[in-house]
Amino acid sequence: MSHEQRRGWGRGRGRGGRGRGFSSHGESECPGGGRGKPPPHLKGREIGLWYARRQGQTCKDKERMERAVVRMDESREEHITRLLNAVQTTNNNAKRTPDDDSWWSMDNDRDSPSPPPRQTAVKPKASVEQLSKSICQEKQNDTISDLDQQLKQELLKKRTDFRYLEMQRFREKLPSYSMKEEIMEVINSSQVTVISGETGCGKTTQVTQFILDDWITKNKGSTCNIVCTQPRRISAISVAERVAAERAELCGRGNSTGYQIRLESQLPRKQGSILYCTTGIVLQWLQSDQNLDNISHLVIDEIHERNLQSDVLMAIVKDLLLRRDLKVILMSATLNAEKFSQYFNGCPMLHIPGFTYPVKEYLLEDIMEMLRYFPKDTDKRPKWKRRFMQGRIDRPEKEEKEALYVEHWPEFVRRLQGRYSASTIEALELVDDEKVDLELIVELIRHIVLKGEDGAILVFLPGWDNISTLHDLLMAQVMFKSDRFIIIPLHSLMPTVNQTQVFKRPPPGVRKIVIATNIAETSITIDDVVHVIDGGKIKETHYDTQNNISTMTAEWVSHANAKQRKGRAGRVQPGYCYHLYNSLRDSLLNDYQLPEIVRTPLEELCLQIKILKLGGIAAFLIKLMDPPSREAIRLAISHLMELNALDRREELTPLGVHLARLPVEPHIGKMILFGALFCCLDPVLTIAGSLSFKDPFIIPLGKEKIADARRKELSKNTKSDHLTVLNAFLGWEEAKWHGARMERDYCWENFLSSNTLKMLSNMKEQFAEHLLGAGFVSSRNPKDPKSNINSGNEKLIKAVICAGLYPKVAKIRPSFSKKRQMVKVYTKSDGKVSIHPKSVNVEEGEFHYSWLVYHLKMKTTSIYLYDCTEVSPYSLLFFGGEISINKDKDQDTIAVDEWIVFQSPARIAHLVKDLKSELDTLLEEKIRNPQPVDWNETKTRDCAVLSAIIDLITTQESDVTKNFAPRFQKNY
Ligand code: CDP
Ligand code: MG
Repeated sequence: MSHEQRRGWGRGRGRGGRGRGFSSHGESECPGGGRGKPPPHLKGREIGLWYARRQGQTCKDKERMERAVVRMDESREEHITRLLNAVQTTNNNAKRTPDDDSWWSMDNDRDSPSPPPRQTAVKPKASVEQLSKSICQEKQNDTISDLDQQLKQELLKKRTDFRYLEMQRFREKLPSYSMKEEIMEVINSSQVTVISGETGCGKTTQVTQFILDDWITKNKGSTCNIVCTQPRRISAISVAERVAAERAELCGRGNSTGYQIRLESQLPRKQGSILYCTTGIVLQWLQSDQNLDNISHLVIDEIHERNLQSDVLMAIVKDLLLRRDLKVILMSATLNAEKFSQYFNGCPMLHIPGFTYPVKEYLLEDIMEMLRYFPKDTDKRPKWKRRFMQGRIDRPEKEEKEALYVEHWPEFVRRLQGRYSASTIEALELVDDEKVDLELIVELIRHIVLKGEDGAILVFLPGWDNISTLHDLLMAQVMFKSDRFIIIPLHSLMPTVNQTQVFKRPPPGVRKIVIATNIAETSITIDDVVHVIDGGKIKETHYDTQNNISTMTAEWVSHANAKQRKGRAGRVQPGYCYHLYNSLRDSLLNDYQLPEIVRTPLEELCLQIKILKLGGIAAFLIKLMDPPSREAIRLAISHLMELNALDRREELTPLGVHLARLPVEPHIGKMILFGALFCCLDPVLTIAGSLSFKDPFIIPLGKEKIADARRKELSKNTKSDHLTVLNAFLGWEEAKWHGARMERDYCWENFLSSNTLKMLSNMKEQFAEHLLGAGFVSSRNPKDPKSNINSGNEKLIKAVICAGLYPKVAKIRPSFSKKRQMVKVYTKSDGKVSIHPKSVNVEEGEFHYSWLVYHLKMKTTSIYLYDCTEVSPYSLLFFGGEISINKDKDQDTIAVDEWIVFQSPARIAHLVKDLKSELDTLLEEKIRNPQPVDWNETKTRDCAVLSAIIDLITTQESDVTKNFAPRFQKNY
C-alpha cells in the first residue's frame, strides 16, 4: 500500500480544486451525505458499506461542484487559436533550426538580425571559478629557483621580526608544536595522514604552517600550495586571519596565507602558500581541474563532523591518489581516527595529546540529588514508558534504543538504590525526557550562582524555542534581573551585535550566562566558561525515504557531542559539566552523530556527481565511507528524472547541465532559469538566493510578535513568504540608496539582517554571472532592464516560483471553525499539514486561489510548510506537470498530474494543453541553445507564445475575490 493511500489522500479524494468562495463546507465533513435508507435486503456489514459508498459518492459530488473553473474570454481564445494554428502550420511546413527565430515571422517583415549564436555570447569577466584557479596557475619553471631562494630569505628575515617572535612564543606552547618534527616526518613519508587532537591543540593553524615552512626551508617553497578545507565560512576566514597574524603578515593580498569562500576571497600568492577555503570551493574546482593539479597538499579539516561535502571530497580524493605527488592530510577533533585511516587503506595516524583542565561531570541522578529536585508534573506515569507503548517512535534505530532503555530500566533502578534517595529515584522515573527540563536548568543555575565557583555558565539547548523560554524563565526571577548578570542567547539567526558580547569577559562580580545551540560546541569558543550545562539534546534533520519527508527533531546528543561540550568548561581552569540525562541513557548514546549523507536528500549531490564525471551515481555513492541507502539514491534519481534533469540513462539532460552548474539545489536552479527566460530576473534571483541561503529575517528575543507583524506588513497581502522576502529586499535597497543611516534604521525596524541582505545581493550577482556565461541573459547585472521587462508583474513572479517549486504543492481548503478563520492545508503525500507559525500565511483566512507552492516541508511536532506562496490555476497548468483532459460525469476537467483538477470546457482545455506543449518545446530549445528572449520582436514565435501565456497568467481572476488588484509595486 502506498503512503499516499495510507494517509487517505489518494487520487480519488485528492482531486479537484476547491470551489469559488469559502462558504461551502470542507472535504472531511461531507455531512449527512443525502437522505435515503439502504435497500432492505442488505444485512450487517453490507449496510455499513452502503453508507460508506454513498458518503464517498457525496464527497466526490461536492468536490466536483467546488472545482475552480479555468476560463478564457473570447478574444483571448480567438487569439490563442490563431497563434497555435500558425505555429502548427509552420511546424509542418518548415524544418526549424534551433537558432532560427525568424520562421515565426508570418509577414516576413522581420528585419532585426538574429541573436548571436551561443558561442559568441559575451564572456563573463573573471568568475569565481577563475578566481579560484588563479592560485593554481602554471608554474613558471625558469623562475622557480629564484623564487625558492626568495621565499627562504623572507622566512629567515621573519624570524627576526618581533611580531613574529611574539606569536612564536604563543605557538610554541601549543601541544601540536612540540610534535612538529614527528608530524612532518609522517606527512613527508606517506601520501595520506590522519591527525587527531583535542579542539585548540593547534591542528588547523599549525600543521599547514609546519608544511609550508618545511618546504621553504628545503628550497622547494615555490612548489608548495597547501589548501585546507573548512566546513564553515566563518572558520575559513578567522583561521586564515589568525595564521596570517602568526606569520606577521596581512591576510591575502599576495602574502603567504589567504582564504576563499563563496563570493568572498583574500587570495594568497600563487606559489608557496596556504589557502583556507570552504569544502564546496574545492568541489567546484574539480569541475575544471579534475586532478587538482596545482595543489601540493590537500588538508581536509574537521572530518569528524561528517558533513556531506567532506565525506564526498574524501571519496573523490581516494581516486585522486593516483597522482602520486599529491599529499592528503585528514584532520579530526575527536578520536575516531581509525575509521578514517581504514578508509584510506590503513594510512598512518597521529594523535596530538591536548591540554585541558580537568572537568568534573555530573549526570541527571547526581544533579537531582544535589538539588533535591522533583518535577512539578503531576502525571505519575513514567513518560518514557507511555511514549514507548504508544509506538510514537518513528525511526527503527531509535526504536531499538528505546527498547533497550525499557529493558534495562529495572536494573538501573536497582543500581541506584542505596546510593540515591528514594525521592531522586522517583523523580527520575517521572521526568519527561522527551523535552529538556528548563525548570531544572533554572534551579541548577541558581545553585551554581549561589554555591558554585565564579566563571561563565554555558547552557546547551537544542533550539530557539528552548533558548527563548529559558531566557524568559530566568528573567522572571528577581535575582537574574540585577546587573550582576549578563544573559546572552546565542543562535545562528541572532543578530551579530549580540554575538560579539559573548566573547567579552564581564567585569568582576558579574556572571555571564550564555544560552546556546550546538554552535558553541566547535564554531564559537568562549574562553571564560567554567560551568557547562548540557541539555543532552541536539536538533537533527533526518530524511525519511519511505515518506519522502525531512524531519527535524531534538535528538539525544552523541558521546562525541557530550565530550566536546564538556571540553568547553576546562579552557582556563578546572570546570564542571552537568549532563541532563541519566547514566542508563548515557550508556545508550551513540558514539557519533549519524553522518549527514545518510540524513539528507541527495538530488543536488547526484547532479554534482554527474557534472564532475565521477561515473554512475549509485556506483560512486557506494564508495563513500557510509553510503546512503539504496532507497534514498533511487528517490533522488527519480526526482531528477521528473525534473527532466536526468534522462532515462541517468545522464544529464541539457537542463540538468545548467542546473548542475548553478550553485543551488535543482529546483531553485530551475526557478532561476525561468526567471531569466520570462524576464523577471531581479526579483526571482532575490527569492532564489533567500531559498538557497537563508531569509534575511532575524529573531529578536522577546519581540517575536512585533517581528511577525512587521513581516505581515511587508507581505503587502501577497499571500506569499517569497514575495515578502522580495519586498523586504526591495525596501532595503531603497533605504540603502538613501544612505547608511536609513539602511540601519530600515533593518532595525523590520528585524532584518543587513549581513544576510548583503550576502543575498552578492549571490544574485553570482547567479547572473552564471546565466550570462551560459547565454541566457545579455548582462551580468541582475537589474539590467532587458532582463527585467516583466519584473513588475507579481502574478508572473508567483508563476515562476511555481515553476521552480513544483511539485511541492499543497491544497487549501476552508476551515469552519467559528473561533479561528484559518484554512486547512493538504499535500498529496501527507494529507493534512500545517503552515509554519513564522509564515505570513499562517493565520490567513482568505486566499485568492486554492493552491500553494512551498519549498521547505519538515516534520517537527507536526508536518509544517515553512514557506509558501499562493498560486493560480494557470501557473499550475503551464508550469506544473503533465496535463490531462477528462470528463468527470457531466463535467469537463483539466488536470495537472491527475491530482490538481479544474473545471474547464473541453475547447479551452485543449487550447491550454496545446499552448503548454508549445511552451515546453520552446523551453527545451532555449535550454539546448540558450539565448535571451527578444521581447522587442513581437512577431517572433518565442515572444508570441510567452506573451500569450503571461497574458493568461496575469489576467486570471481570483477564485475567490474578483478583480484582485496586485499590491506589489516596483518600477523597473
Ligand atoms: O584546530 P585546532 O582546534 O586543533 O586548533 P587551532 O584552530 O589550530 O587553534 C590553536 C590555538 O590558536 C587555539 O587554542 C587558540 O588559542 C588560537 N586561535 C586563535 O587565537 N584564533 C583563531 N581564530 C584560531 C585559533
Ligand atoms: Mg581546527
